[in-house]
Amino acid sequence: MSVVSPPEAQRPPGPDVPCDLERLDNKLEVMQSYWQQYGDCYCVASQTRSADTWVINHPDLVRRVLVSNHRNYTKGIGIERVRVLLGNGLMASEGERWRRQRRLLQAGFHRPKIAAFFPIYVQQAAATAAQWHAAAQRGEPVNVSEAVSETTLLAVLQALFSEDLLRLQQEHGGNPFQVVTTDTRRDLQFAMKFRALGKRVQEVVDTRRRENRFPPDLLSHAMLARDKSSGTAMPDKLLIDEILTLVVAGHETTAAALTWVWYLLAAHPDVYAMVAAEARCLPAGEVPDWSVLEKLVWIPRVIRETLRLYPPGWLYTRRALAEDQLAHWPLAAGTDVFICSYLLHRHPDFWEQPEAFMPQRFAPQQEAKRHRYAYIPFSAGPRHCIGESFAMTEMMIHLAVLAARIRPQPVEHLDVELETDVNLRPRDPLYLNFAVVD
Ligand code: HEM
Repeated sequence: MSVVSPPEAQRPPGPDVPCDLERLDNKLEVMQSYWQQYGDCYCVASQTRSADTWVINHPDLVRRVLVSNHRNYTKGIGIERVRVLLGNGLMASEGERWRRQRRLLQAGFHRPKIAAFFPIYVQQAAATAAQWHAAAQRGEPVNVSEAVSETTLLAVLQALFSEDLLRLQQEHGGNPFQVVTTDTRRDLQFAMKFRALGKRVQEVVDTRRRENRFPPDLLSHAMLARDKSSGTAMPDKLLIDEILTLVVAGHETTAAALTWVWYLLAAHPDVYAMVAAEARCLPAGEVPDWSVLEKLVWIPRVIRETLRLYPPGWLYTRRALAEDQLAHWPLAAGTDVFICSYLLHRHPDFWEQPEAFMPQRFAPQQEAKRHRYAYIPFSAGPRHCIGESFAMTEMMIHLAVLAARIRPQPVEHLDVELETDVNLRPRDPLYLNFAVVD
């Protein structure tokens, strides 16, 4: 007698009631509860689309979708919204156009180029330290969310435009990109305002061409990059999309990460003490080089552990172009696949005491034992974050400079509600009190 599998066995388990996860205000809680009920691969029928959504929460499945069979997946639900904001820049483009653009931009993020930005990171960190130091002396709390948003925006703008940022500020009576930090909504209205900034980018591009002046920054890199096979530069429209993409991608995620770093340090004074001890060993006011940064132990571990517990890019959406097989189930073309790094980073099979803040788990011996795709704050595979080194070095320098000068006043219990929009960040601005340590 032949055994015919029941239809349910053709797909992973999942809730009986259809639902569009992405539309839920409490999608993280719902995904967490479904994960507990249905395991590392479950299927949710959509209310409004014909395709199902599969949610995967196992590093082997993550490797399949993001790395070994990545060509079978495009960006998924939500990407239209990103495209309205960022056009055809790297974040939202696909296929041959994406490959070509990634090749053109990649070299702008190589180590020597990133090292050239260290003075920017130091200057930004020193300015923030001075402000927080002054607030500490006055006994006033600091709006950490706002401050790190401003400093990371300025850092990426300086890395993009160098001296032309000042010129833009003078000509337009202030920083034309300020709207990115002052307006935190990411709706259509914001998208319109933000897209209008393309004009400012075009102005700088035109001025540089006219003056034949190409300072060593990310904009010049993008303007001068040539496709190896055709020898052509990217068209201005695409160039502008790429620059606007870097403004948003290079600022919001880093700002969210630094907010979480300070939140966790305020709650863990013992960890802050280790960070501060390391920070005080660095020559004050000097711009470090790679050899100095590579010797740091606790500062990068604290940042990595923060990105484990609170990955700013907390949900990756993909859509299958053709059939695939995931966890022994056949996956139909058109299926939406969700990877929630927030939950993956708390998977008890891969993390001891997953809810605890334990930077020591990023010691090299511990890392060597871990599944490579259990930790993906910068994603994985060909579409991993192009700005990982930019962000890591910026955050390390920020922390080194600030921790040497100020100490967050310990907080026993800090109730923070998560905002699970494009980025994972505290729903309300995070305020902390600091004490002066020098
Ligand atoms: C803590 C800081 C950062 C985090 C956590 C982060 C995270 C990520 C993640 C998870 C992705 C993949 C998204 C997906 O596949 O759906 C990504 C892509 C990207 N990131 Fe970052 N990022 C950070 C900082 C930066 C910085 C500083 C820049 C640039 C200056 C940047 C530029 C980009 C770009 C252009 C992409 C698209 C890459 C592609 O598809 O080829 N990011 N980032």
